[in-house]
Amino acid sequence: LAGLAQSGQSVQAVQSSVANDKKLTILYGSQTGNAKSVAAEFKALLEAKNIPVTLSNMADYKAKQLKAETHLVVIASTHGEGDAPDDAVELHEFLASKKAVKLPDLKFSVLGLGDSSYEFFCQTGKDFDQRLADLGAKRIIDRVDCDVDYDDACQAWFGAVIAKISDELLQQSATPAVTSNARAQASNKASVYNKKNPFSASLLESQKITGRDSVKDIRHIEISLEGSGIQYRPGDALGVWFKNDAALVDELLQLLSIQPSATVELAGAKYTVRDALINQFELTQSYPTFISAYSAFTQNKQLIDLATDKEALRTYLASRQIVDIVREYPAHVTAQQLLDCLRKITPRLYSIASSQDEVEDEVHLTVALLQYDNEGNLRQGGASSYLAARLEAGGELGVFVEHNDNFRLPDDPNTDVIMIGPGTGIAPFRAFMQQRQADEAEGKNWLFFGNPNYTQDFLYQTEWQRFVKEGVLTKVSLAFSRDQEQKVYVQHRIKEQGAELYQWLEKGAHLYICGDANHMAKDVHDALIHVVVEFGGKTAEQAELYLTDLRRAKRYQKDVY
Ligand code: 2AM
Repeated sequence: LAGLAQSGQSVQAVQSSVANDKKLTILYGSQTGNAKSVAAEFKALLEAKNIPVTLSNMADYKAKQLKAETHLVVIASTHGEGDAPDDAVELHEFLASKKAVKLPDLKFSVLGLGDSSYEFFCQTGKDFDQRLADLGAKRIIDRVDCDVDYDDACQAWFGAVIAKISDELLQQSATPAVTSNARAQASNKASVYNKKNPFSASLLESQKITGRDSVKDIRHIEISLEGSGIQYRPGDALGVWFKNDAALVDELLQLLSIQPSATVELAGAKYTVRDALINQFELTQSYPTFISAYSAFTQNKQLIDLATDKEALRTYLASRQIVDIVREYPAHVTAQQLLDCLRKITPRLYSIASSQDEVEDEVHLTVALLQYDNEGNLRQGGASSYLAARLEAGGELGVFVEHNDNFRLPDDPNTDVIMIGPGTGIAPFRAFMQQRQADEAEGKNWLFFGNPNYTQDFLYQTEWQRFVKEGVLTKVSLAFSRDQEQKVYVQHRIKEQGAELYQWLEKGAHLYICGDANHMAKDVHDALIHVVVEFGGKTAEQAELYLTDLRRAKRYQKDVY
């Protein structure tokens, strides 16, 4: 916090020293926090170079200010099927609306963050780029679209933007406030754990919490943060670095007839290819860039054609790991060539399932062990199998907290809360309930939970019962989908309870959804529309607006994946 306060002061110092002059404005639109941290990193870099800069979340930015900007960069992530982050929605819509004025004097550049395995890759970034250009603004440099491993591409974009603008924006004389602040910020940053500098935590416990006959294997994980000083809040996520399974790496190397001891060079350091694959490369998720690079070595027309058919490619990749593709399409590649086809490993983010007011220097997660069979071979998720099966109690893992201000309990403890979290979507609501209890919050709490079977999959059942008994949890609505002939999902319960749910909303309740983004979150959204139409006497369009207003008021928040 001290660091933030200091940087706030320095912005003012810089602004006043260049009053009525040019500056760079960074606007970010972030869902899970990646765009936000990239934006903060860019700001620190600009400040260290004495380039005047302001940083703002799009949600806090008044679109009318655009006219007064001289240099603007937009850093925006895309999630789901090309959707803008919640915080970006308003500005995103504004720029395409009739209200948007021409911006002929504005210079801008866009950095998009996304995941190339989705069809609408970096769509939000593309939209901002197009809309600003349509309004007459001029590109400083062309937009860059970053994939999941975005670090290198971001650095390149930072450098290119700075090279273009520094002559125009550089301050003649550096103010002392800036230099000292840049230093303070650098040291502040170094002392804090983050993605690049994770804390080496130890695993305390990994316990299966689904029953023996369950179709799912879900684990309750407890990790010790002792000695780290790490602070998190309910709604935050934990980033987890993991190692690939050595057996998987050996299988891959054998298929390609590559010696495990073959040396490879990465950023000037030498490793055996086996170690490099275990620690540094993504093997358990497959991705389009692997197909385009690797298909050239296979000279297989089918695979080469697949690389350019986005829709078919996505289906193909969804049920295969790198090793499955290599098994299906063998090739002659050297160790170094193989690594050149692969993406760097990235940490996985898990919604935190605990509150520090309850668990102090521990952090709890709810992790589904991802596994499936591919032609007789058991394939498991990289991080989930590391946490669930491969790491022993006491084992070390690199972790960091990814703060998420888009998923927060109401500031007012008297405000009611509605939580919709089927499956592992339950995780943040365990944290919410621990927090509400610790705060002795008076507001009511209503939980919607769903999973396949009551006897097998009622995650944290005894804890919910205790919260009910102690008067913290007001109401629980359950949907065990496979306990009867017809599937019953949380959205069915939402519709059944529509009258009461609408009343809660009208009285100011905050509503949260966590879990599956592809189907559940959309179906729940539709159910909510249905409820607002039926019990609020509105048209579908008005109901959509009602939910949009809730979202803008931060009363409708999603953590979906
Ligand atoms: P199913 O697997 O029996 O179809 C958590 O994964 C729970 O969410 C499971 O009970 C699962 O049901 C259910 N589920 C599956 N699709 C869903 C959807 N579109 N909306 C809500 N819940 C869904």
